[in-house]
Amino acid sequence: MNAPVILAIESSCDDTSAAVMVGGEIRSNVVATQQVHEQYGGVVPELASRAHQQHIIPVVEAALQRAGISKTQLDAVAFTQGPGLLGSLLVGSMFAKSLALGLDKPLIAVNHMRAHILAHFIQEPRPAFPFLCLTVSGGHTQLVVVRSPQEMQVIGQTIDDAAGEAFDKTAKLLGLPYPGGPHLDKLARQGNPTRFPFPVGAMPGYDFSFSGLKTAVMYFLKKETAQNPAFIQENLTDLCASIQHTIIQTLLRQLRRAAHDQGLTHIALAGGVAANSGLREALQQEALVQGWEVFIPEFQYCTDNAGMVAMTAHFQYLAGDFTTQLTSPDPRLKLA
Ligand code: KG4
Ligand code: ZN
Repeated sequence: MNAPVILAIESSCDDTSAAVMVGGEIRSNVVATQQVHEQYGGVVPELASRAHQQHIIPVVEAALQRAGISKTQLDAVAFTQGPGLLGSLLVGSMFAKSLALGLDKPLIAVNHMRAHILAHFIQEPRPAFPFLCLTVSGGHTQLVVVRSPQEMQVIGQTIDDAAGEAFDKTAKLLGLPYPGGPHLDKLARQGNPTRFPFPVGAMPGYDFSFSGLKTAVMYFLKKETAQNPAFIQENLTDLCASIQHTIIQTLLRQLRRAAHDQGLTHIALAGGVAANSGLREALQQEALVQGWEVFIPEFQYCTDNAGMVAMTAHFQYLAGDFTTQLTSPDPRLKLA
Protein backbone atom coordinates (compact mmCIF):
# COMPACT_ATOMS: atom_id res chain seq x y z
CA MET A 1 0.00 0.00 0.00
CA ASN A 2 2.82 2.43 0.82
CA ALA A 3 4.88 1.71 -2.29
CA PRO A 4 2.27 1.70 -5.06
CA VAL A 5 3.41 0.97 -8.60
CA ILE A 6 1.68 3.47 -10.87
CA LEU A 7 1.68 3.88 -14.65
CA ALA A 8 0.73 7.45 -15.63
CA ILE A 9 -0.25 8.78 -19.04
CA GLU A 10 -0.22 12.43 -20.15
CA SER A 11 -1.78 13.49 -23.47
CA SER A 12 -3.39 16.89 -22.84
CA CYS A 13 -1.78 18.79 -25.71
CA ASP A 14 1.00 17.85 -28.12
CA ASP A 15 3.27 15.65 -26.00
CA THR A 16 2.55 11.94 -25.56
CA SER A 17 4.10 10.80 -22.31
CA ALA A 18 4.13 7.81 -19.97
CA ALA A 19 5.87 7.39 -16.62
CA VAL A 20 6.25 4.70 -14.00
CA MET A 21 6.45 5.61 -10.33
CA VAL A 22 7.17 3.18 -7.50
CA GLY A 23 6.53 4.35 -3.95
CA GLY A 24 6.74 8.01 -4.96
CA GLU A 25 9.98 7.57 -6.91
CA ILE A 26 10.20 8.04 -10.65
CA ARG A 27 11.46 4.96 -12.48
CA SER A 28 10.87 6.24 -16.02
CA ASN A 29 9.50 9.32 -17.77
CA VAL A 30 9.20 8.99 -21.56
CA VAL A 31 8.02 11.88 -23.75
CA ALA A 32 7.33 11.86 -27.50
CA THR A 33 7.06 15.44 -28.74
CA GLN A 34 5.02 15.98 -31.89
CA GLN A 35 7.03 17.74 -34.62
CA VAL A 36 4.09 17.81 -37.04
CA HIS A 37 2.79 21.17 -35.71
CA GLU A 38 5.95 23.18 -36.46
CA GLN A 39 5.01 23.82 -40.09
CA TYR A 40 1.65 25.32 -38.99
CA GLY A 41 3.09 27.65 -36.33
CA GLY A 42 0.82 26.22 -33.61
CA VAL A 43 -0.80 23.02 -32.36
CA VAL A 44 -3.41 21.61 -34.79
CA PRO A 45 -5.83 19.67 -32.51
CA GLU A 46 -6.84 16.98 -35.03
CA LEU A 47 -3.21 16.27 -35.94
CA ALA A 48 -2.34 16.14 -32.23
CA SER A 49 -4.87 13.40 -31.47
CA ARG A 50 -3.75 11.37 -34.50
CA ALA A 51 -0.11 11.64 -33.39
CA HIS A 52 -1.09 10.58 -29.84
CA GLN A 53 -2.68 7.46 -31.33
CA GLN A 54 0.58 6.66 -33.12
CA HIS A 55 2.80 7.34 -30.11
CA ILE A 56 0.87 5.98 -27.17
CA ILE A 57 1.68 2.26 -27.38
CA PRO A 58 5.45 2.66 -28.03
CA VAL A 59 5.69 5.36 -25.32
CA VAL A 60 3.91 3.23 -22.70
CA GLU A 61 5.98 0.18 -23.62
CA ALA A 62 9.21 2.19 -23.37
CA ALA A 63 8.19 3.57 -19.95
CA LEU A 64 7.45 0.09 -18.57
CA GLN A 65 10.62 -1.35 -20.06
CA ARG A 66 12.90 1.43 -18.75
CA ALA A 67 11.34 1.03 -15.30
CA GLY A 68 11.78 -2.75 -15.40
CA ILE A 69 8.11 -3.17 -14.51
CA SER A 70 5.62 -5.52 -16.15
CA LYS A 71 1.94 -4.61 -16.61
CA THR A 72 0.84 -7.19 -14.04
CA GLN A 73 2.94 -5.46 -11.34
CA LEU A 74 0.93 -2.23 -11.65
CA ASP A 75 -1.25 -1.15 -8.72
CA ALA A 76 -3.03 1.61 -10.66
CA VAL A 77 -3.23 3.38 -14.01
CA ALA A 78 -3.44 7.19 -14.03
CA PHE A 79 -4.32 9.59 -16.82
CA THR A 80 -4.72 13.33 -17.37
CA GLN A 81 -8.43 14.16 -17.26
CA GLY A 82 -8.00 17.85 -18.20
CA PRO A 83 -7.67 20.69 -18.91
CA GLY A 84 -6.46 20.29 -22.48
CA LEU A 85 -7.56 19.49 -26.02
CA LEU A 86 -10.55 17.14 -26.06
CA GLY A 87 -9.27 14.86 -28.85
CA SER A 88 -5.83 14.60 -27.22
CA LEU A 89 -7.29 13.90 -23.77
CA LEU A 90 -9.57 11.24 -25.25
CA VAL A 91 -6.65 9.20 -26.59
CA GLY A 92 -4.84 9.07 -23.23
CA SER A 93 -7.96 8.50 -21.15
CA MET A 94 -9.38 5.76 -23.41
CA PHE A 95 -6.02 4.01 -23.45
CA ALA A 96 -5.67 4.20 -19.66
CA LYS A 97 -9.23 3.01 -19.09
CA SER A 98 -8.85 0.07 -21.47
CA LEU A 99 -5.57 -0.96 -19.87
CA ALA A 100 -7.01 -0.70 -16.35
CA LEU A 101 -10.09 -2.65 -17.38
CA GLY A 102 -8.02 -5.39 -19.03
CA LEU A 103 -5.72 -5.69 -16.02
CA ASP A 104 -8.52 -5.19 -13.48
CA LYS A 105 -6.60 -2.34 -11.82
CA PRO A 106 -7.93 0.90 -10.30
CA LEU A 107 -7.94 4.13 -12.28
CA ILE A 108 -6.79 7.58 -11.14
CA ALA A 109 -7.93 10.77 -12.94
CA VAL A 110 -5.43 13.62 -12.62
CA ASN A 111 -5.86 17.38 -13.10
CA HIS A 112 -3.07 18.62 -15.41
CA MET A 113 -2.61 21.93 -13.54
CA ARG A 114 -2.36 20.15 -10.20
CA ALA A 115 0.24 17.88 -11.77
CA HIS A 116 2.39 20.83 -12.95
CA ILE A 117 2.44 22.04 -9.32
CA LEU A 118 3.08 18.64 -7.71
CA ALA A 119 6.03 18.11 -10.09
CA HIS A 120 7.92 19.90 -7.28
CA PHE A 121 7.65 16.74 -5.17
CA ILE A 122 9.45 14.46 -7.62
CA GLN A 123 12.89 15.58 -6.50
CA GLU A 124 14.65 17.47 -3.73
CA PRO A 125 14.54 20.29 -2.77
CA ARG A 126 10.77 20.28 -2.14
CA PRO A 127 8.81 23.37 -1.08
CA ALA A 128 7.06 23.28 2.32
CA PHE A 129 3.29 23.78 2.59
CA PRO A 130 1.82 26.32 2.28
CA PHE A 131 3.64 27.75 -0.73
CA LEU A 132 2.85 30.00 -3.68
CA CYS A 133 3.16 28.51 -7.17
CA LEU A 134 3.36 30.44 -10.42
CA THR A 135 2.37 28.06 -13.21
CA VAL A 136 3.38 29.44 -16.61
CA SER A 137 2.89 27.36 -19.74
CA GLY A 138 1.70 27.62 -23.33
CA GLY A 139 -1.90 27.27 -22.20
CA HIS A 140 -2.01 28.65 -18.66
CA THR A 141 -0.79 31.35 -16.32
CA GLN A 142 -1.93 30.88 -12.73
CA LEU A 143 -0.96 31.94 -9.23
CA VAL A 144 -1.93 29.21 -6.78
CA VAL A 145 -1.73 28.99 -3.00
CA VAL A 146 -0.83 25.35 -2.34
CA ARG A 147 -1.81 24.17 1.16
CA SER A 148 -1.48 20.42 0.59
CA PRO A 149 -1.43 18.01 -2.38
CA GLN A 150 -5.24 18.21 -2.36
CA GLU A 151 -5.92 21.75 -1.21
CA MET A 152 -5.07 24.41 -3.79
CA GLN A 153 -6.55 27.85 -4.35
CA VAL A 154 -6.20 29.76 -7.61
CA ILE A 155 -5.81 33.41 -6.58
CA GLY A 156 -4.87 34.86 -9.97
CA GLN A 157 -4.84 33.92 -13.64
CA THR A 158 -4.56 35.37 -17.10
CA ILE A 159 -7.65 37.02 -18.53
CA ASP A 160 -6.44 36.50 -22.12
CA ASP A 161 -3.18 34.97 -23.43
CA ALA A 162 -0.98 32.67 -21.35
CA ALA A 163 2.65 33.70 -20.71
CA GLY A 164 3.90 31.00 -23.11
CA GLU A 165 1.48 32.27 -25.75
CA ALA A 166 2.84 35.79 -25.24
CA PHE A 167 6.33 34.45 -25.97
CA ASP A 168 5.19 32.34 -28.94
CA LYS A 169 2.96 34.98 -30.56
CA THR A 170 5.47 37.83 -30.28
CA ALA A 171 8.22 35.48 -31.49
CA LYS A 172 6.05 34.71 -34.53
CA LEU A 173 5.77 38.46 -35.26
CA LEU A 174 9.59 38.53 -35.27
CA GLY A 175 9.67 35.66 -37.77
CA LEU A 176 11.04 33.07 -35.31
CA PRO A 177 10.09 29.37 -35.65
CA TYR A 178 7.35 27.74 -33.50
CA PRO A 179 7.36 27.39 -30.56
CA GLY A 180 9.10 30.73 -30.31
CA GLY A 181 9.67 30.88 -26.52
CA PRO A 182 13.03 29.07 -26.45
CA HIS A 183 14.29 30.94 -29.57
CA LEU A 184 13.33 34.31 -28.12
CA ASP A 185 15.00 33.37 -24.82
CA LYS A 186 18.29 32.53 -26.57
CA LEU A 187 18.39 35.74 -28.64
CA ALA A 188 17.34 37.87 -25.64
CA ARG A 189 20.58 36.94 -23.85
CA GLN A 190 22.54 39.12 -26.31
CA GLY A 191 20.11 42.05 -26.32
CA ASN A 192 19.30 45.18 -24.34
CA PRO A 193 16.13 44.57 -22.26
CA THR A 194 15.32 48.27 -21.80
CA ARG A 195 15.86 49.44 -25.39
CA PHE A 196 12.18 49.21 -26.43
CA PRO A 197 9.68 49.94 -23.65
CA PHE A 198 6.53 47.83 -24.15
CA PRO A 199 3.48 48.06 -21.83
CA VAL A 200 3.39 45.88 -18.70
CA GLY A 201 -0.15 44.46 -18.40
CA ALA A 202 -1.31 46.07 -15.15
CA MET A 203 -4.25 44.14 -13.72
CA PRO A 204 -5.94 44.61 -10.35
CA GLY A 205 -5.49 41.83 -7.78
CA TYR A 206 -3.32 38.96 -8.97
CA ASP A 207 -4.61 38.48 -12.53
CA PHE A 208 -2.47 38.78 -15.66
CA SER A 209 -3.02 40.17 -19.17
CA PHE A 210 -0.68 39.68 -22.12
CA SER A 211 -2.79 40.55 -25.17
CA GLY A 212 -1.86 44.26 -24.90
CA LEU A 213 1.82 43.39 -25.28
CA LYS A 214 1.17 41.34 -28.42
CA THR A 215 -0.83 44.20 -29.98
CA ALA A 216 1.76 46.80 -28.95
CA VAL A 217 4.58 44.76 -30.53
CA MET A 218 2.53 44.23 -33.70
CA TYR A 219 1.82 47.97 -34.23
CA PHE A 220 5.37 48.95 -33.28
CA LEU A 221 6.86 46.54 -35.83
CA LYS A 222 4.39 47.69 -38.52
CA LYS A 223 5.39 51.32 -38.00
CA GLU A 224 9.14 50.65 -37.90
CA THR A 225 9.27 48.22 -40.84
CA ALA A 226 7.27 50.70 -43.00
CA GLN A 227 10.28 53.05 -42.67
CA ASN A 228 12.99 50.40 -42.62
CA PRO A 229 12.15 46.92 -43.97
CA ALA A 230 15.27 45.49 -42.27
CA PHE A 231 14.25 46.86 -38.83
CA ILE A 232 13.56 43.43 -37.30
CA GLN A 233 16.81 41.83 -38.52
CA GLU A 234 18.87 44.84 -37.42
CA ASN A 235 17.34 44.95 -33.94
CA LEU A 236 16.38 41.33 -33.31
CA THR A 237 18.29 40.70 -30.08
CA ASP A 238 17.13 44.00 -28.51
CA LEU A 239 13.54 43.28 -29.54
CA CYS A 240 13.70 39.81 -27.98
CA ALA A 241 15.30 41.11 -24.78
CA SER A 242 12.74 43.93 -24.46
CA ILE A 243 9.75 41.62 -25.02
CA GLN A 244 11.11 39.05 -22.56
CA HIS A 245 11.81 41.77 -20.01
CA THR A 246 8.19 42.99 -20.27
CA ILE A 247 6.74 39.49 -19.81
CA ILE A 248 8.98 38.88 -16.79
CA GLN A 249 8.03 42.23 -15.23
CA THR A 250 4.34 41.41 -15.71
CA LEU A 251 4.78 38.05 -13.95
CA LEU A 252 7.00 39.34 -11.14
CA ARG A 253 4.74 42.27 -10.33
CA GLN A 254 1.77 40.02 -9.49
CA LEU A 255 3.94 37.36 -7.87
CA ARG A 256 5.52 39.92 -5.54
CA ARG A 257 2.12 41.32 -4.61
CA ALA A 258 0.60 37.88 -3.98
CA ALA A 259 3.56 36.62 -1.92
CA HIS A 260 3.48 39.75 0.20
CA ASP A 261 -0.30 39.72 0.80
CA GLN A 262 -0.42 35.98 1.52
CA GLY A 263 2.71 36.06 3.70
CA LEU A 264 4.34 33.23 1.73
CA THR A 265 8.10 32.88 1.23
CA HIS A 266 8.36 29.49 -0.48
CA ILE A 267 7.87 30.36 -4.16
CA ALA A 268 7.54 27.64 -6.78
CA LEU A 269 7.73 28.00 -10.57
CA ALA A 270 6.02 25.42 -12.80
CA GLY A 271 5.18 24.90 -16.49
CA GLY A 272 7.19 25.11 -19.71
CA VAL A 273 7.99 28.83 -19.39
CA ALA A 274 9.92 27.99 -16.18
CA ALA A 275 12.69 27.07 -18.63
CA ASN A 276 13.13 30.75 -19.52
CA SER A 277 16.62 31.81 -18.45
CA GLY A 278 15.63 35.45 -17.90
CA LEU A 279 12.70 34.50 -15.67
CA ARG A 280 14.86 32.12 -13.62
CA GLU A 281 17.51 34.79 -13.13
CA ALA A 282 15.00 37.52 -12.26
CA LEU A 283 13.31 35.22 -9.76
CA GLN A 284 16.58 34.35 -8.04
CA GLN A 285 17.41 38.06 -7.75
CA GLU A 286 13.96 38.85 -6.43
CA ALA A 287 14.38 36.04 -3.90
CA LEU A 288 17.46 37.75 -2.47
CA VAL A 289 15.56 41.03 -2.07
CA GLN A 290 12.37 39.48 -0.65
CA GLY A 291 13.91 36.67 1.43
CA TRP A 292 12.16 34.01 -0.67
CA GLU A 293 13.22 30.45 -1.24
CA VAL A 294 12.64 29.62 -4.90
CA PHE A 295 11.86 26.13 -6.28
CA ILE A 296 12.12 25.22 -9.96
CA PRO A 297 11.85 21.57 -11.05
CA GLU A 298 14.29 19.96 -13.47
CA PHE A 299 13.41 20.92 -17.06
CA GLN A 300 11.93 17.50 -18.00
CA TYR A 301 9.38 17.97 -15.18
CA CYS A 302 8.54 21.59 -16.15
CA THR A 303 7.21 20.92 -19.65
CA ASP A 304 4.31 18.51 -20.18
CA ASN A 305 5.33 15.08 -18.88
CA ALA A 306 3.74 12.01 -17.31
CA GLY A 307 6.17 12.07 -14.36
CA MET A 308 4.18 14.90 -12.79
CA VAL A 309 0.94 12.99 -13.45
CA ALA A 310 2.44 9.96 -11.70
CA MET A 311 3.47 12.11 -8.70
CA THR A 312 -0.05 13.50 -8.40
CA ALA A 313 -1.53 10.01 -8.82
CA HIS A 314 0.74 8.77 -6.03
CA PHE A 315 -0.76 11.32 -3.61
CA GLN A 316 -4.27 10.45 -4.83
CA TYR A 317 -3.56 6.72 -4.39
CA LEU A 318 -2.51 7.27 -0.78
CA ALA A 319 -5.66 9.36 -0.20
CA GLY A 320 -7.88 6.67 -1.79
CA ASP A 321 -8.92 9.06 -4.57
CA PHE A 322 -9.80 6.69 -7.45
CA THR A 323 -12.13 7.14 -10.39
CA THR A 324 -14.36 4.91 -12.54
CA GLN A 325 -14.65 3.89 -16.16
CA LEU A 326 -17.44 6.49 -16.47
CA THR A 327 -15.08 9.47 -15.95
CA SER A 328 -14.88 11.58 -19.12
CA PRO A 329 -12.07 13.88 -20.15
CA ASP A 330 -12.82 17.51 -19.32
CA PRO A 331 -11.07 20.08 -21.56
CA ARG A 332 -12.04 22.89 -19.12
CA LEU A 333 -11.35 21.09 -15.85
CA LYS A 334 -10.76 23.69 -13.10
CA LEU A 335 -8.09 23.40 -10.43
CA ALA A 336 -10.23 24.84 -7.67
O1 KG4 B 1 4.15 23.39 -20.15
P1 KG4 B 1 4.37 23.33 -21.62
O2 KG4 B 1 5.38 22.34 -22.15
O3 KG4 B 1 3.04 23.03 -22.38
C1 KG4 B 1 1.81 23.53 -22.04
O4 KG4 B 1 1.11 22.93 -21.17
O5 KG4 B 1 1.48 24.60 -22.61
O6 KG4 B 1 4.77 24.82 -22.08
C2 KG4 B 1 5.09 25.14 -23.42
C3 KG4 B 1 5.35 26.63 -23.49
C4 KG4 B 1 5.46 27.16 -24.92
O7 KG4 B 1 4.70 28.32 -25.03
C5 KG4 B 1 6.95 27.46 -25.06
O8 KG4 B 1 7.25 28.49 -25.96
C6 KG4 B 1 7.30 27.87 -23.64
O9 KG4 B 1 6.59 26.95 -22.84
N1 KG4 B 1 8.75 27.79 -23.39
C7 KG4 B 1 9.52 28.88 -23.19
C8 KG4 B 1 10.84 28.40 -23.02
N2 KG4 B 1 10.83 27.05 -23.13
C9 KG4 B 1 9.53 26.69 -23.35
N3 KG4 B 1 9.20 30.18 -23.12
C10 KG4 B 1 10.19 31.05 -22.89
N4 KG4 B 1 11.49 30.68 -22.74
C11 KG4 B 1 11.86 29.39 -22.79
N5 KG4 B 1 13.14 29.04 -22.63
ZN1 ZN C 1 1.07 21.78 -19.30
